Amino acid sequence: MTSTNNDDAGVARTAVIGPGAIGSTIAAALVDAGHRPVIGARTPFERLAVRHGEGVVEAKVTCFGSPSEVGDNGPVDVAFLAVKAHQTEAAAGWLDAFVGPTTTLVILQNGVEHIERLEPFVADGVDLVPAVVALPATRGGPGQVAVTGRSRITIPAGPSGDRVAGLFAESFLNVKLSDDWTTDAWIKLMMNAASGGLCTLARTDNRVFADEQATHLAIDVMNEVAEVGRAYGARLATDLPDRIMTGLAAQASGHMSSIVVDRINGVPTEWDARNGVVCRLAARHGIDVPLNQMLTTLIRIGEPSTPPPT
Ligand SMILES: NC(=O)c1ccc[n+]([C@@H]2O[C@H](COP(=O)([O-])OP(=O)(O)OC[C@H]3O[C@@H](n4cnc5c(N)ncnc54)[C@H](OP(=O)(O)O)[C@@H]3O)[C@@H](O)[C@H]2O)c1
Repeated sequence: MTSTNNDDAGVARTAVIGPGAIGSTIAAALVDAGHRPVIGARTPFERLAVRHGEGVVEAKVTCFGSPSEVGDNGPVDVAFLAVKAHQTEAAAGWLDAFVGPTTTLVILQNGVEHIERLEPFVADGVDLVPAVVALPATRGGPGQVAVTGRSRITIPAGPSGDRVAGLFAESFLNVKLSDDWTTDAWIKLMMNAASGGLCTLARTDNRVFADEQATHLAIDVMNEVAEVGRAYGARLATDLPDRIMTGLAAQASGHMSSIVVDRINGVPTEWDARNGVVCRLAARHGIDVPLNQMLTTLIRIGEPSTPPPT
């Protein structure tokens, strides 16, 4: 197959795997910056339409429905993986098609195990860049997304970070280069474990944090996560859970986390990357996390793949 993203000399060849809420937004930001990303999709589409804080990006895109269609369009210089964490293994064929020995692979997923999750699916030495995604995006149809807040990803500072950030110059996406990415990732995990966990069990949106008891519970959950994070090198101040909660309560706008949306829709959720991980990593350091254990167990039991208890 003839390459369609074989941009002008000196312009990066880019690909997005998993064009859902986040993947479509990243593809749109690449288009906004003048690139022509190709897309690997489970549900292919022809047009991208992403509304963001500064306007809208609409474009005809090259979107494949199977890795076997990629041909000369891969490997690329920079690939972006935006399937949900539990969908990574099923996306392995796309990684084979788009990721070569000199590709930088940006992992746009929640949690703190980006590198460990991807290493089994790429060759040794592939440049893996983990990203913390702060980008409240909601899908309409395939390729159609509304971003309802600021659009930012945080990646580690360094040559790879510069390479990725350079792609988005002049686009609506802000790329933050962090000197302490581990801490950034654990802060996000504190929020996800507490806010996403409680809202999943309550099957509700973030307005739950107008409730005083829910607020106290969330702070206690975050304190456990912070203790685990510190054991893994994150620098998390003791008053951070209170400060995060103040911020979450102030933003209690009715936004529903993607894990809650997936639970209500009856499809598998990212429970392991967002909650299970806290318990697994705590156990390795002998840290007791009873609230996170309870949240994780109850969310796991509600997964569609888990047989009902006998
Ligand atoms: N959405 C947010 O606001 C937000 C904010 C921060 C972080 N995040 C994180 O960002 C990551 C992506 O989340 P998301 O909300 O963008 O999820 P999403 O909307 O569900 O998108 C996932 C996309 O991957 C596609 N996909 C799944 N399996 C695939 C496969 N085997 N091959 C190709 N494509 C496949 C899905 O296809 P279908 O179209 O067929 O479903 C979908 O388009 C998650 O880790 C999430 O936690 C999301």
